[in-house]
Amino acid sequence: MADTDGMTDSHDYYLDIPQKDPGYPLKGCHALDWGMKNRLTNIFNPKTGRTVMLAVDHGYFMGPTTGLERIDLTINPLLPYADTLMCTRGILRSTIPATFNKGVVLRASGGPSILSELSDERIAVNMEDAIRLNSSAVAVQVFIGGEFETTSVHNMTRLVDAGNRYGMPVLGVTAVGKQMARDAKYMRLATRICAELGCSYVKTYYVEKDFETVTAACPVPIVIAGGKKQPELDALTMAYNAIQQGAAGVDMGRNIFQSDAPAAMIQAVSRVVHEEMKPQEAFDYYETLKNEK
Ligand code: 5RP
Repeated sequence: MADTDGMTDSHDYYLDIPQKDPGYPLKGCHALDWGMKNRLTNIFNPKTGRTVMLAVDHGYFMGPTTGLERIDLTINPLLPYADTLMCTRGILRSTIPATFNKGVVLRASGGPSILSELSDERIAVNMEDAIRLNSSAVAVQVFIGGEFETTSVHNMTRLVDAGNRYGMPVLGVTAVGKQMARDAKYMRLATRICAELGCSYVKTYYVEKDFETVTAACPVPIVIAGGKKQPELDALTMAYNAIQQGAAGVDMGRNIFQSDAPAAMIQAVSRVVHEEMKPQEAFDYYETLKNEK
C-alpha cells in the first residue's frame, strides 16, 4: 500500500482559467500530428518560425563539389551556426559528429549523376533508416515539367505516405531544368503541386519578380535554395528579399560554403533570416567577422 501520509486534499484546478490551445508557428501545419510538428520544430526556430538550413547534399549527384571536398574540415565548423543540416545518410554517418543536436534533413532521392538525365530519380532512403538516423525530415527532388516528372512526383507521394505513417515531414525540393523558365509562374506551379500532394514544406528558388505570389499561393512554408555562388552582398540581399516576401527561411549551400569566409557568411545569413537585418548591415557584419578571423 502506498504511503499517503502527508497528502492533502487541497487541489487547484484553476477553474477560472480555460486551457489555451498552444498554437503552432508554421503556416499550414496546425493540423499535423504532434510528432511531425515536433520534428519541424527541430528545423524551424519556434521563436521566429524560420530556419537557416545548411545544404551540403550536392555530392549525391555532383560528387565532391567545390567547398565540400572535405566536409569534416569545411562544414563541421559551421554546424553551430545552422538551424538544420541537409545532407545524405552517407555523409551523416561518415562525417557528422553524433553530438550534433539540431535537425537533420535527410536527402531521400537520388539515382542519376551529372553525367545523365537528372530527373530520373528514385527514392534513395527508406523511412526506417531515416528514423534510425533521428532525422527531422526527408527531402525529395521534384522535377515538374522534367522528362521524368511523374516518376519524381510518385517518389514524393510515396515518401509522404511513409512519412505520415511515422510522423516524418517531407520537404519537396523543386528542381528547375536548364530548359525551364525560372519565373514566378513556374515556381507557383511547382511549389503548389508539392504542397497539394502532401509535403510539409517546400524548397524553391527565389525569383526577382512576383516572388510574393509564390509564397502566397503555397499553403505551407517555403524555403529558398541559394543557387550558384554570388557576391556575398547579393546573396544576403536575395535572402532578405525572400524573407520580406514571405519565405520561412533559406536552404543555402554554395553561397555559404563557397564564400571567402563561410562561418561569417552563415552568421550574417542567420541575422537576415531571424532578425530581418538589412542586407548592407548584414554585409558589414559579415566583413567584421571575416576580418576578426
Ligand atoms: C541539390 C540541393 C541543394 O541542397 C540546394 O540546391 C541548395 O544548395 P544551393 O544553395 O547550393 O543551391 O537540393 O539538389
